[in-house]
Amino acid sequence: MQKIFKIGLIGCGHIAETYFRAHKYFNNFRIIKCADINKKSAEKCAKKYKIDFVSINKILKDKEIEIILNLTIPTAHYVVAKKSLLSGKHVYSEKPLAVDLKDGLELVKIARRKKLFIGNAPDTFLGGGNQKARQLLDRKIIGNIKFGTAIFAFPGIQSYHPNPEPWFKKKGGGPVIDMGPYYLTALVNLLGPAKFVTSICNHNTKKRIIGIGPKKGKKIKVECPTTYFSTIRFENGTTIRLTLSFDVISHLRNHIELYGDEGSMIIPDPNMFGGSVLLSKKLGSKWKNYKTNKMVLGKINIRTQSSRANESPTNANYRGVGLAEMIYSIQKKKKHRCNGNLSLHVLNIIEGIHKSAKTGKKFYIKTKCERPKFFTSKEINSIII
Ligand SMILES: NC(=O)c1ccc[n+]([C@@H]2O[C@H](COP(=O)([O-])OP(=O)(O)OC[C@H]3O[C@@H](n4cnc5c(N)ncnc54)[C@H](O)[C@@H]3O)[C@@H](O)[C@H]2O)c1
Repeated sequence: MQKIFKIGLIGCGHIAETYFRAHKYFNNFRIIKCADINKKSAEKCAKKYKIDFVSINKILKDKEIEIILNLTIPTAHYVVAKKSLLSGKHVYSEKPLAVDLKDGLELVKIARRKKLFIGNAPDTFLGGGNQKARQLLDRKIIGNIKFGTAIFAFPGIQSYHPNPEPWFKKKGGGPVIDMGPYYLTALVNLLGPAKFVTSICNHNTKKRIIGIGPKKGKKIKVECPTTYFSTIRFENGTTIRLTLSFDVISHLRNHIELYGDEGSMIIPDPNMFGGSVLLSKKLGSKWKNYKTNKMVLGKINIRTQSSRANESPTNANYRGVGLAEMIYSIQKKKKHRCNGNLSLHVLNIIEGIHKSAKTGKKFYIKTKCERPKFFTSKEINSIII
């Protein structure tokens, strides 16, 4: 019989609903207790999902719990993940691994020393959209990829998040920490590791107004740049121009486009799991549409709209698959896909983007990671209910 791993959740905020919904899809975990620095948030979460809430110290000492799910804010990821590992628990954190590279390096080292698994979001690259693109690229369908573009641009999280302050802080704020992990992880999955990066930034606004929740109408200070333009050279020679911005009302550009010597490919939203991959092999030809809506991790699975854009009935959202795949790998004693080396490499690129924008210099990426293996239907089916 399939073992169900008992999970302790630390950080009972906005994204928690998505991970509780993941109980419906994956067969190997159950969140049984929760904790938060803010007791009221833990209490509310426990009541909503009919589980127990305890203190952070208690959850870390709980013998029943084998894995900590760390859904705290980015600046707390390091400290919570470190405490979890030192308490002998595997840990799976939301993105990014940490805010500073040195902290990320320490976490990966501790996990290795203690022979524990450290996992990290995003897991969206395991979805139908990015995996379909990966499958086509591995077949060299557009030949050798030369360059491409990627963009995430919207007006900012203040419109739909009731507590958006951390997203605009000097430390841990800005679009590179927030959305960079989705784009960079998807690109590393498609192209392999990065070699160097150059970047410039704009600090466009001084204040934002909270658009939702009890603090609606309150002005908050913007302490960080909110738009970055970066150029990333990958080890395989591909150059990507990446725009990450909290300053754009709307746009019609594609999330990721790759140009090869035999064709062009448009890759769906790396923040989500589904969407079509589009392919053109000839100038002016009709784009061929590779749909993913019949794939296990590509079909729309949300019926009702929540306050969050990700939770809407147009989306395939299987967040939690990275945790389920990590558990599968613990049991099979193999390397998981959303692993520490991958998230550390992504954190290194994030650091490079920030540093290059500050210094005006090219930043070389020192960490290495392997391109995660293609996620096979057999593996997916073994963790799906
Ligand atoms: N909100 C989204 O749509 C979304 C989507 C994908 C990923 N994420 C990621 O998920 C994480 C959480 O985001 P969120 O939107 O749920 O944030 P949130 O602010 O709504 O919730 C975070 C929770 O963590 C708690 N917390 C903060 N520091 C803590 C600490 N040191 N120890 C224990 N608890 C602590 C806070 O009290 C809060 O309840 C972030 O890393 C974010 O990037 C969010």
